[in-house]
Amino acid sequence: MTLLDGKKTAADIKEEIALEVRELKNNDQKVPHLAAIIVGNNGASVTYVNAKVKACERVGFESTLIRLEENISEDDLLNEIEILNIDKDIDGFIVQLPLPKHIDEQKILMAVNPEKDVDGFHPTNVGKMALNLPTFISATPFGILELLDRYNIETSGKHVVVLGRSHIVGSPMSILLSQKRKVGNATVTMCHSRTKNLTQITQQADIIIAAIGIPEFLKATMIKDNVTIIDVGITRMADPSKKNGFRLVGDVAFDEVAKKADYITPVPGGVGPMTIAMLLKNTLLACKRRN
Ligand code: GUN
Repeated sequence: MTLLDGKKTAADIKEEIALEVRELKNNDQKVPHLAAIIVGNNGASVTYVNAKVKACERVGFESTLIRLEENISEDDLLNEIEILNIDKDIDGFIVQLPLPKHIDEQKILMAVNPEKDVDGFHPTNVGKMALNLPTFISATPFGILELLDRYNIETSGKHVVVLGRSHIVGSPMSILLSQKRKVGNATVTMCHSRTKNLTQITQQADIIIAAIGIPEFLKATMIKDNVTIIDVGITRMADPSKKNGFRLVGDVAFDEVAKKADYITPVPGGVGPMTIAMLLKNTLLACKRRN
């Protein structure tokens, strides 16, 4: 069994990005500038956004963090987005999800200038992704493609089973892996909460992407030998023995599944760190496209 080390791979990618930033600086060119909007005080969201901003600093990007009150109106949030849309210094920005219930998430995502939409969530960019046109591929699916690529895991002709149909992971992942692309050409089965005979399907998978948000859902009895497992789950489980009071648990029962798998991502340290690296990659791309 080989661990797919997202932490190490993300560090490699960030080093490559930092090198490019140094070259931009040496040539008196603009360095990428990422902005992030966060609404409210959701603990996990604040942690993720802070990690994104810190990652910007490490690779030499400029970054701007905009923290807004939980009770901000939809109109005021739209206003903040418009300011970033027209700010010439900002190459890309994200609005951290989830948003409070009184705000229409889709409306907000549609207000982001697609050329600055480094999350790849705008319908224009989702459409381009689905058509295999140049765009911003969302950080999590992009990170999974990159991890499979850097570990030389063959996807062509393989049976990939995607668990979960979220707009952020499951849905784009199933589209991308079925496309004619370097990491693609797979036969993809997309499973979700209404799927019948799930175990029969997962037992046929060469690669399983688990993105359902149910801790330790995928058990050893559900897989065949020599499978590749990508675990996208990161649920916070109360754990008094930890300093921060919780531990992170994936969608895969790691210990038992790892015994049968050829390749598996750990949680934490698998897909998570890759998403930040790919957000930076998208921001660098946005900067290059704009300048
Ligand atoms: N919430 C969970 N994942 C993401 C992400 O990739 N981008 C944003 N903006 N919010 C998220």
